[in-house]
Amino acid sequence: MSRPLTRRQLLGAGGVAALGLGVSIGVPPLMNRLLPGGEPGKLLRSALPLPARYAAELPVPAVLKPVRSDAGADYYEITARRATARLLPGHDTEVWGYQGTFPGPTLESRSGRRTVVTHRSELPRPTAVHLHGGHTPHDSDGHPLDLVGSAAHHDMPGMGDMPGTAGAEGATVLPQRDYTYPMAQRAATLWYHDHTMGFTGPQVYRGLAGFHLVRDEEEAALGLPQGPHELPLMIADRSFAADGSFAYPGLPGGAPGVQDAYMNGVLGDVMLVNGAPWPLARVERTWYRLRLLNASNARRLRLALDPQPGGGGALVQIGSDGGLLERPLRHDAVDLAPAERCDVLVDFSRYPAGTRVRLRNRLGDGPTGEVMAFEVGSAAGDNGFRLPERLSSVERLDPAKAVNTRTFVFQKGKQHWTVNGQEYRPGRSIAAPRLGRIEVWRFVTDFHHPVHLHLDPFQVLGRAGGGPGANDAGWKDTVDVLPAQGVEVAVRFNDYAGRFLLHCHNLEHEDMAMMAEFTTTE
Ligand code: C2O
Ligand code: CU
Repeated sequence: MSRPLTRRQLLGAGGVAALGLGVSIGVPPLMNRLLPGGEPGKLLRSALPLPARYAAELPVPAVLKPVRSDAGADYYEITARRATARLLPGHDTEVWGYQGTFPGPTLESRSGRRTVVTHRSELPRPTAVHLHGGHTPHDSDGHPLDLVGSAAHHDMPGMGDMPGTAGAEGATVLPQRDYTYPMAQRAATLWYHDHTMGFTGPQVYRGLAGFHLVRDEEEAALGLPQGPHELPLMIADRSFAADGSFAYPGLPGGAPGVQDAYMNGVLGDVMLVNGAPWPLARVERTWYRLRLLNASNARRLRLALDPQPGGGGALVQIGSDGGLLERPLRHDAVDLAPAERCDVLVDFSRYPAGTRVRLRNRLGDGPTGEVMAFEVGSAAGDNGFRLPERLSSVERLDPAKAVNTRTFVFQKGKQHWTVNGQEYRPGRSIAAPRLGRIEVWRFVTDFHHPVHLHLDPFQVLGRAGGGPGANDAGWKDTVDVLPAQGVEVAVRFNDYAGRFLLHCHNLEHEDMAMMAEFTTTE
């Protein structure tokens, strides 16, 4: 029951039919719309001249302080609001940001210590806040209909028009919500972002995203590079209108979703890192920890340093979505689909002083083929870090112990995107896994879909009948499912009984109904 799918099972309509789902996958029309680099989406060109590369300094989002702490928890307050930011030289950009900044402030939690975040919103539209990668009970998980907003939002024009979302009328809008995160989870790079029904794409695009780091003793004992040597890097593509505002091809009248032409995904032509276009970071000749996050709506990244240092293997991966790997993995390049994280160490002492090392995106071309640069300083600046051979122990979920195998087909429907042939409808649960039991979940598609599960992470068992890919190691919460490939994962939901989401993290697909609910039961 836990054997990986064979290639024949995974390829084409015959394979899907063989799974007994009674659905067929129409491959050809969709495949034609892939861009040359195989990118899922359509490029929206900026209407202003693109800013110079490597002129802006890399910003690092400020760490938010708790408003108070007691024996049991740390308490934070965040207000989402409109603000003016100087992202591009000579232009103002209106952002929708947590605390008015893009990215939002970084939160830091200790593993096992409860974190309570009170969110308020002064935005023109209501918002739902999801902690991506958090092991969070349902009522704090940022369900797309559990909204925060002003009293003026109670009617929410357009909400009922959400395609395939009968039941969106069930939304509740509160002036503030307390999101309680037990943080019973290991150290990892999490991020929080908007998750509003039908509007996640435009609202994240306008800036509603920030880092939330979880730290623990095990990680601290490794003595990883920290302080100025630890850089969270939120990579996101955006396009700009002539006046410097974010350009997003939304529908007229504030209806949810995107224009038809952009249904596969919106790709921007400006690469932002922590909100700055193609920034430059000055680094010392020592080890750095880069927490890479792809916060793009639809763009996939293949990140590599250029030049490669002699001997290659410049990106030393120590962690994935769900925290530390067992051992470091050396890569020349890492792939990151939307929402994926990769925690890498780079030893800049492998480069001569004065080298400009670019972080390239091998899936982009021209401006989108570049991301940022590091200028290697002359100071030795050795922070004393030595790479250990072993990082952590990772429990293996044994697929032979799986009590159930489920298949989820991600494909285009008549008008929108579907999971197992159905558009998202809040309250309709399509799977009921038991807590504490291992299951094998298969994700099958004819297109690119970064598939994300809420609540608990999983382990990739294989792709397209083979083993896991080079970027599938460790605990994952988002996996890049490629056209005509299937991915098989082992998952065990441990923590909380309730209703949770699985969905595609291409935000245009998500808004256009490629989402479903599952219910965990005791
Ligand atoms: Cu990062 Cu349900 O999302
Ligand atoms: Cu998708």
